[in-house]
Amino acid sequence: MKKSLFITLEGPDGSGKSTIIKMIEEYLDKNGIKHISTREPGGIDIAEQVREVILNKKNTAMDKRTEALLYAASRRQHLAERVIPALEQGNLVICDRFVDSSLAYQGYAREIGMEEVMRINEFAIEGYMPDLTLYLDIEPQIGLARIAKNKEREVNRLDLEKLDFHNKVREGYFKLLEAYPNRIKKIDASKEINLVFEDVKRLINYKITEFLNK
Ligand code: TYD
Repeated sequence: MKKSLFITLEGPDGSGKSTIIKMIEEYLDKNGIKHISTREPGGIDIAEQVREVILNKKNTAMDKRTEALLYAASRRQHLAERVIPALEQGNLVICDRFVDSSLAYQGYAREIGMEEVMRINEFAIEGYMPDLTLYLDIEPQIGLARIAKNKEREVNRLDLEKLDFHNKVREGYFKLLEAYPNRIKKIDASKEINLVFEDVKRLINYKITEFLNK
């Protein structure tokens, strides 16, 4: 039997994922639910090194399949070193981005194909799919405007992609919502943050109750 729940957050850049994750952590703390929160590459040395290559602004020559393979490699290391041990110890794991990011960004927006990208990721994740994925939906214009306002956040290579690309990423997430209706739940992230969190809380509580009653 599974020892705990694996919950991922997805969404276009600037959708408020980091703030929502902090709110989830506070909520779980308050309710005495053992958890960890992480993000790829999550401070895992090997995964960080791989990620540095992907996000380096110098690497404009990077082939899109190379990018997808590197994301999968970084994901694998973070999963093996961080996520699986935490789940085995009975922690609920909240992860900022996982395989769906690769499916939406590399598979759909970069047009490698979602099935192809899923195939290399299956090798990387060995069946560790999330129990619940919260997709924070927002129009790319609004998301990017939020990023521009937040001066502390470093703008990376992918942030600089054109709006078209971000619109395609969003379409990619919509495809995923159709493909995995039970696992992925869409949340309107254009609302006020406390209202967004109400939706998040409801979905997480439902999942926890379902898990405990199994
Ligand atoms: P990240 O560092 O998680 O930034 P944020 O979530 O704050 O936007 O991700 C950096 C970029 O990498 C982001 O634009 C999404 C992209 N990305 C992919 O293209 N594929 C992937 O598999 C992942 C995990 C991220």
